[in-house]
Amino acid sequence: MAQQEQWKSKIGFILATAGSAIGLGAIWKFPYVAGTGGGGAFFFLFITFTLVLGMPLLMGEFLIGRKGQTNPIDTYRKLASNPKWGFIGKMGVFTSFILLSFYSVVGGWIILYIVKIVTGGLSVQNDEQYMHLFEDIISNPFSTVIAQFTFMLIAILVVSQGIQKGIEVASKIMMPALLILFIGLVIRSLSLDGAMEGVKFLLVPDFSKLTSESILFALGQSFFTLSLGVSVMVTYASYLPKTQNIPKSAISIILLNTIIALMAGLAIFPGVFAFELEPNAGPVLIFAVLPAVFNHMPFGMVLFLAFLILFLFAALTSAFSMVEIIVASVTKSDATKRKKYTWLTGILIFIVGIPSCLSYGVLSDVKFFNKTVFDLMDFTVSNILMPLGALLIAVFVSRFVSKDVLYSELKQGSNIGNIFFSIWFVLLKYVTPIAIIIVFLDVVGLFKWIVNVFN
Ligand code: PHE
Repeated sequence: MAQQEQWKSKIGFILATAGSAIGLGAIWKFPYVAGTGGGGAFFFLFITFTLVLGMPLLMGEFLIGRKGQTNPIDTYRKLASNPKWGFIGKMGVFTSFILLSFYSVVGGWIILYIVKIVTGGLSVQNDEQYMHLFEDIISNPFSTVIAQFTFMLIAILVVSQGIQKGIEVASKIMMPALLILFIGLVIRSLSLDGAMEGVKFLLVPDFSKLTSESILFALGQSFFTLSLGVSVMVTYASYLPKTQNIPKSAISIILLNTIIALMAGLAIFPGVFAFELEPNAGPVLIFAVLPAVFNHMPFGMVLFLAFLILFLFAALTSAFSMVEIIVASVTKSDATKRKKYTWLTGILIFIVGIPSCLSYGVLSDVKFFNKTVFDLMDFTVSNILMPLGALLIAVFVSRFVSKDVLYSELKQGSNIGNIFFSIWFVLLKYVTPIAIIIVFLDVVGLFKWIVNVFN
């Protein structure tokens, strides 16, 4: 078997995994699903799911990934000593494929915004016009498809370089820059007139606003944003040396990701209320609100451009991880095949993504189960395949891998004690699966969904 590559530095791994986590999920999706899903109550649930379910799962994925030291499909086979378990890895590969097919569409929108600013096309008279401008931009079939292709091209070029030269170097520069710019943005947003209303909307829970659907969305969102349930984290951890402290890495990544999501919310909702926009505007939210926030500050458009470039980087570092799991699985870590399969994967994903790309324009009336192609893909991945994958991984790690193997893997690189291990194990073995099943089997939600489908 080919020699597995390794991350060059500890911080390189953390930034690459944080790069996988931090992306459209925290910056674009979180504010709008929080906006439609009940504001503060949604945020509260999201944090709870992240800590109680996300954290144990992330550690679980790291542990088996590092133990396996191979591609995700073989990791499951190897650790259970049974080839049939490879299907969890295969499911992750499939999910990542579908995920990137619509993720790259949004990546393309960011590129189009960047082009717009540079060519001076993003200046409007009043703030509400940004909403229409965005709708115009994403409904153009030609430019959106070209932009989606460009996004995939960048991902292909980086991933084909391998993990150290490509993914690690890129993440080391992009992630810290993103954090710094976000701090500036939040300060600016909080100083807007009426900012407190936005802050309250995001942080003060009103549980009467929760519906079974928003609970499912909060669960889906906490997995989506941490890249859980698709074995991406298993893949990244397979490049880890045994000296890495796994619990500490998991905590750092969760912290970074949650801070970015919180900052995205704090950057956006004050603006929403200050400019009297709708918090439940949906996917358009960040693209319509942020230009307005930036527009009201000195050098606004230059800063907005800087923000978009970093936003694009954040989306790209997540895309790298989706391409990487597929490439790692098909090449079985054979470096000589990497280039060819990265190109093949990237091009296929682009082609499969074209209908999603067009579903905000020429295909907007084509609906399945009452959803556009884009929404259907997103719903299937975020709210079905990812929680299902997470459930399978939790069950696999806690019931089919020997407890001793897990404990000794955890101890390598960390001096975590028995108690921590036991708490983690109980969470993964009982709490995570039960919680996922409860949310999944929500009778009310399911019923509503079925009714919707037949409407
Ligand atoms: N976590 C990424 C984001 O929030 C999305 C992702 C999901 C990436 C699953 C890889 C795997 O943008």
